[in-house]
Amino acid sequence: MNDYDDTRPGRARVGDSPELAAYYEELAKHEAGALWTVANEIEPWYPQPRSVPVLWRYADLAPLVRKALPLVRADDAGRRVVMLVNPGRRELSAAVGLLYTGLQIMGPGEAMTAHRHQAAALRFVHEGTGAWTIVDGQKLKVGPRDFAITPNNTWHEHGNEASDEPVIWQDGLDIPLVNALDAGFYEVHPELYQQPGTVVNSSLLSYAGTLLPYGVETWSRPYSPLLGWPWEPSYEALRRLARAGEGSPYDGVIMEYANPVTGGSVMPTMSAHLQLLRPGQATLAHRHTGSVVYTAAKGRGVSVIAGQRFEWQQGDVFVVPSWAWHEHANSDPGEDACLFSFNDFPVMRSLGMYREEAHPDNAGHQPVLS
Ligand SMILES: [Fe+2]
Ligand SMILES: [Fe+2]
Repeated sequence: MNDYDDTRPGRARVGDSPELAAYYEELAKHEAGALWTVANEIEPWYPQPRSVPVLWRYADLAPLVRKALPLVRADDAGRRVVMLVNPGRRELSAAVGLLYTGLQIMGPGEAMTAHRHQAAALRFVHEGTGAWTIVDGQKLKVGPRDFAITPNNTWHEHGNEASDEPVIWQDGLDIPLVNALDAGFYEVHPELYQQPGTVVNSSLLSYAGTLLPYGVETWSRPYSPLLGWPWEPSYEALRRLARAGEGSPYDGVIMEYANPVTGGSVMPTMSAHLQLLRPGQATLAHRHTGSVVYTAAKGRGVSVIAGQRFEWQQGDVFVVPSWAWHEHANSDPGEDACLFSFNDFPVMRSLGMYREEAHPDNAGHQPVLS
């Protein structure tokens, strides 16, 4: 008898009989049912995600994303996005768990109309130098590998001011979570476009340093007042931390993009990380509740997720379902590798559902099955 044996005392183990079958039918007529027929399924011993590990190669997807540019007008599509859909989560349009992600393309000079929604959004830029976004009247410019947020219910619109090249950025949203909670709202801006303030990147000017503005404004909203994190200082922060210590045995040198006022996650439902794997470094395996979408930001490597081996290089996106064993390795002996990721850990933590454990056997690594 193992720990997860459903024939154990304490688990539902009612047999079948004609009397019981008739009883179940009687209950069903009243929109009712016997809990013991589904108890073990709806209260599993441990998480049973429908999501599976998947890797999407940027080299495969980027040409398909570019194909949408002449095919669909941005105005007609609202947002011209190719979404990444987990085979186990198609009905929710989720990439993993209750997280959505997609690759959005904006042609030279394009500008999208403004809207707001209950779902929170974040962006990680793959290519193109002309991207901008306006969040509640603040214009922010973002370049390759920059990270930016659009907190829920903030007015936002974006575009590409470059005259010669498209922008492809990755959107991350908690749409499936919002829908699972039946809490979705969506509004188009009454003026269709916002009037931005005259100062560009004002949130960076105010909040991107190591000191905080004092005495002029008190920030009390539940998300970060800093809206963008450019790549260079973020990467530099990782390199500095790498000089200060070893980092995590499961993640290498890892940092969280933080709300500078609270030190907590950038938004209430989603958090984002940037991690560095030293040349040739291989981490140990662990698992935790919460789903993660990774984007390779630099270099190349291999991740083993639930026993499956995935090779990645810059631009590739892959997902780790909740409670799946995972470990990462940098396969370049000479260069560091970086992974950007976003997750639903703030939800898990605020609801008291975050749990984490190290792989107990095999010197801390999981067996590779495929
Ligand atoms: Fe949006
Ligand atoms: Fe992890």
